[in-house]
Amino acid sequence: MQLLLFLFSPFLTKSMIFFPTEKVSGVSITSTNLPIEGKPVNLTCEAAGSVPTRKWMKDGSDFNLADNITLHDENRVLSFHSLKKSDKGKYSCKVSNPVNSEEATFNMVVNLSIPTIACPTENLIEGKTSVNLTCDADGFVSTRVWVKDGQPLVPGERYSFHDGNRVLSISPVNRTDTGEFLCKVSNDFSSATAKCALKVYYGPDKPRIVQTPIGAELEESVTLYCSADSLPKATFFWTFKHMKMYGAMHYIHEMEERHLGRYTCTAQNAITGLEASVFHTLRGI
Ligand SMILES: *[C@@H]1O[C@H](CO)[C@@H](O)[C@H](O)[C@H]1NC(C)=O
Ligand SMILES: *[C@@H]1O[C@H](CO)[C@@H](O)[C@H](O)[C@H]1NC(C)=O
Ligand SMILES: *[C@@H]1O[C@H](CO)[C@@H](O)[C@H](O)[C@H]1NC(C)=O
Ligand SMILES: *[C@@H]1O[C@H](CO)[C@@H](O)[C@H](O)[C@H]1NC(C)=O
Ligand SMILES: *[C@@H]1O[C@H](CO)[C@@H](O)[C@H](O)[C@H]1NC(C)=O
Repeated sequence: MQLLLFLFSPFLTKSMIFFPTEKVSGVSITSTNLPIEGKPVNLTCEAAGSVPTRKWMKDGSDFNLADNITLHDENRVLSFHSLKKSDKGKYSCKVSNPVNSEEATFNMVVNLSIPTIACPTENLIEGKTSVNLTCDADGFVSTRVWVKDGQPLVPGERYSFHDGNRVLSISPVNRTDTGEFLCKVSNDFSSATAKCALKVYYGPDKPRIVQTPIGAELEESVTLYCSADSLPKATFFWTFKHMKMYGAMHYIHEMEERHLGRYTCTAQNAITGLEASVFHTLRGI
């Protein structure tokens, strides 16, 4: 007997590794990535223990493996090639050996992907540029809404919608379009938002000239100041009797007869390429 054991023990020790004696424990299901409609995802059923067999169920019952759902690695991995809405549900993995069994569940929520807006990169110029914002999302989208400043946008003089609201067309852009456009996509079980910030260049608008003091007398100092609404900020120059002075402000230290007359202020915008002028007559009292 002893001799027999001695002879066979190396063989016995080796074969014992295959005996299903270790309890199944620590069963868990993890997903490779966020479950997003139209994207692949794998659920992996991990467990410790000996010779486990794995069985997957959906919402408590057996389910049919379809073309796009396959099992790998001795049932360890449940692989969805392209998630569908109908794949949502509670998945369970039951791991068993002759000693015991243990189960884990995974609640699969099939979400829409975060949409993206193709946001224009060129300079947008008021009254000149027309632009399309395109909002794309993977998966089944039942509604698409465009929002600006908290208000849903509606078709109008400058706004139109194409391809089931996928494209917002602004023609032409206006300074009032500066700000953040949101595209909200949703379906019965999920919603997501994408953003696009627009900056519309405009102006210069007609400049304004302010003289201080208004009723300046000869020999007093006087300042002419020119301003205009513009994005980006305008640059200014003055013209007076064939002279050209740069800057928004023209300062006369001591006003004399030769200073009196018509001053023209011109505002220029380097991006819109526009300019606007206005004149002011300086009078001595
Ligand atoms: C899922 O698992 C399969 C088989 O192991 C593999 O071919 C595939 O690349 C995995 N997919 C993802 C999204 O991890
Ligand atoms: C499987 O997924 C592909 C996209 O990866 C899709 O075109 C096809 O219709 C799907 N098949 C089934 C049976 O759902
Ligand atoms: C921009 O919109 C405002 C308000 O709708 C309008 O009064 C103005 O004429 C527009 N500007 C241009 C350059 O189209
Ligand atoms: C915007 O999209 C509409 C509709 O598809 C198209 O007619 C128009 O030419 C596009 N405009 C621009 C600026 O791309
Ligand atoms: C999935 O969609 C649900 C419902 O809209 C939302 O509560 C949840 O945060 C989303 N999860 C992810 C990861 O986007």
